[in-house]
Amino acid sequence: MIPRRLVHPGLELPFISLGTVKIGRNSSVKYPGGAFELPSDTEVENLLSAARELGCNLIDTAPAYGISEERLGKLLGGRWEGWLCSSKAGEEFDGDKSHYDFSPEAIRRSCERSLRRLKRDHLDLFLLHSNGNDLEVLNSPGLMDELSSLSDRGLIRTWGASTKTVHGGLETLRRGGVPMIMLNLEARDELAVADYAASLGRGVLVKKALASGHLGDNAANRDEKLRDTWKFLSGIKGVSSVVIGTTKAAHLRQHAELLRGV
Ligand SMILES: NC(=O)c1ccc[n+]([C@@H]2O[C@H](COP(=O)([O-])OP(=O)(O)OC[C@H]3O[C@@H](n4cnc5c(N)ncnc54)[C@H](OP(=O)(O)O)[C@@H]3O)[C@@H](O)[C@H]2O)c1
Repeated sequence: MIPRRLVHPGLELPFISLGTVKIGRNSSVKYPGGAFELPSDTEVENLLSAARELGCNLIDTAPAYGISEERLGKLLGGRWEGWLCSSKAGEEFDGDKSHYDFSPEAIRRSCERSLRRLKRDHLDLFLLHSNGNDLEVLNSPGLMDELSSLSDRGLIRTWGASTKTVHGGLETLRRGGVPMIMLNLEARDELAVADYAASLGRGVLVKKALASGHLGDNAANRDEKLRDTWKFLSGIKGVSSVVIGTTKAAHLRQHAELLRGV
């Protein structure tokens, strides 16, 4: 089974979790190989079975990931027991481009809609889907009160922010939230956020650990790069979970195997 690490008081995460952009959205994304078909329900079911079996029981989704939330609700609705779920708010994707709204009303409506789509009664993590102006997002009037209210209503367990700057990640931690940061062999700028989290006895989630698939672009060096990735990330105390975006059960199994070996 995948090891687990504490991200926030009372919340332990599997070190590998499942990112679901590619199960819901195939436009305006920059994965290698160009245009791709969304995986079939059977392929997603196989992926979910592998994740469950390996202990990768956190699924990360967002309204901006096309039909990802709806598909998860359809495939897991009524069968969420044993899974943790993270979704986001603030970004809406219209099929062509993104629009952002971090007003309290938009965040509340988005959370309630995610729960309806996912067929869940709460989110374990609820992340602000930053547009890159992280501090402006965190300072949006009324936002922190709205997050407290969603927590008081039992709709979210822990809030956080998927940030794009070191300042944004650090500020999220200072305010008691969980950052999701970009960290990989070729992008280490946000390491300071993971280190600060560790100093507080908390952690961060990592996105784009494989540089959205561009790490090890050729098959010859891919395995070596993947092994180095797991060695690098598992050695950072403040990294609690690495959200791997894959549509393939075999790829998830390979990551679990490589992590076991480092
Ligand atoms: N702003 C945000 O909040 C934000 C932004 C980006 C990502 N995220 C979250 O983080 C997750 C991961 O990010 P990401 O999807 O951009 O990138 P990623 O995890 O760095 O890379 C995903 C890409 O790597 C490929 N891949 C995965 N495992 C592989 C393997 N073993 N061998 C070869 N190729 C492999 C995947 O293709 P296959 O499908 O073929 O495996 C996919 O094209 C997302 O799904 C999402 O949940 C959040």
